[in-house]
Amino acid sequence: MRYADALTAAAGLERVFFANSGAEANEGAIKLARKWGALHRGGAWEIVTTAGGFHGRTLATMSASGKSAWDGLFEPRVAGFPKVPLNDIGAVEAAITDRTAAIMLEPIQGESGVRPADDGYLRALRALADRRGILLILDEIQTGMGRTGALFCFEHTGVRPDIMTLGKGIGAGTPLAALLAREEVCCFEPGDQGGTYNGNALMAAVGHAVLEELTAEGFLERVCEAGAALRRGLERLSGKYGLGGVRGRGLLLALDLNPRADGFALVEKALAAGLLLNAPAPDALRFVPALNVTDAEIAEMLDLLDGLLRGP
Ligand SMILES: Cc1ncc(COP(=O)(O)O)c(C=O)c1O
Repeated sequence: MRYADALTAAAGLERVFFANSGAEANEGAIKLARKWGALHRGGAWEIVTTAGGFHGRTLATMSASGKSAWDGLFEPRVAGFPKVPLNDIGAVEAAITDRTAAIMLEPIQGESGVRPADDGYLRALRALADRRGILLILDEIQTGMGRTGALFCFEHTGVRPDIMTLGKGIGAGTPLAALLAREEVCCFEPGDQGGTYNGNALMAAVGHAVLEELTAEGFLERVCEAGAALRRGLERLSGKYGLGGVRGRGLLLALDLNPRADGFALVEKALAAGLLLNAPAPDALRFVPALNVTDAEIAEMLDLLDGLLRGP
């Protein structure tokens, strides 16, 4: 209960349900939005989602994801997740019907290659959701818990969601995730969502300890500094090798390789050189280092990457 109080206070959302994985938290978000739609919006149950979005690997969260590589897998898909292109507010407006209960997206699409939702787009989404009486769900599983230099990515824009999901860094490598929501949205009855390990004391203690570290004096400032150092270094390499620039926020960054390098080949070469890199797509490298990464580690990584980009 102490952890629940601390996390809900930090998020400015009154209720929390602790889950074991990001996908499970998102399943909960989808169920909550559907129940809310059934009760408060005339049976609305669709959730508008984004092309390129990623929400997990359960059946419903795969259907909510917009990952084209999954097209045709595990058919039939779970119905009710119309897709719109990211950063196109007109497309969202056009996709909303009487069946729509919510819109769900990541503030920065992680898996598709660190593709940010623009600040103005997020603000417009909040206004649109309010105007049309639907819920805004932010999947902060990859962007939350300090990753972008703020505790939650939505703080950069002030766009508070009605429902938010957290995972990954929330347990610092242990199986913890969370579904948070505004009080008025919380229509779950006991038993609507649950499982053997939900809210277990061990993970709650871990989560609380992680939250205390992240909110300790100076921690997030240091994440911002490290993110700025990493961005500067990547921009330097981008200029030096004629690459496509850097996108993302804090310590969630991508180097756009277009048109000069093949990300998958670079990952292989990096592994042989003792460097673990990640290419979510052939045209991008994603950088998601530990939040306590040091300047020396960033410099070492940039040196190794410089060597790899220079070629044999
Ligand atoms: C934005 C986002 N949502 C959901 C998930 C799924 O989380 P989990 O792997 O913990 O189920 C991920 C994992 O990559 C993610 O990045």
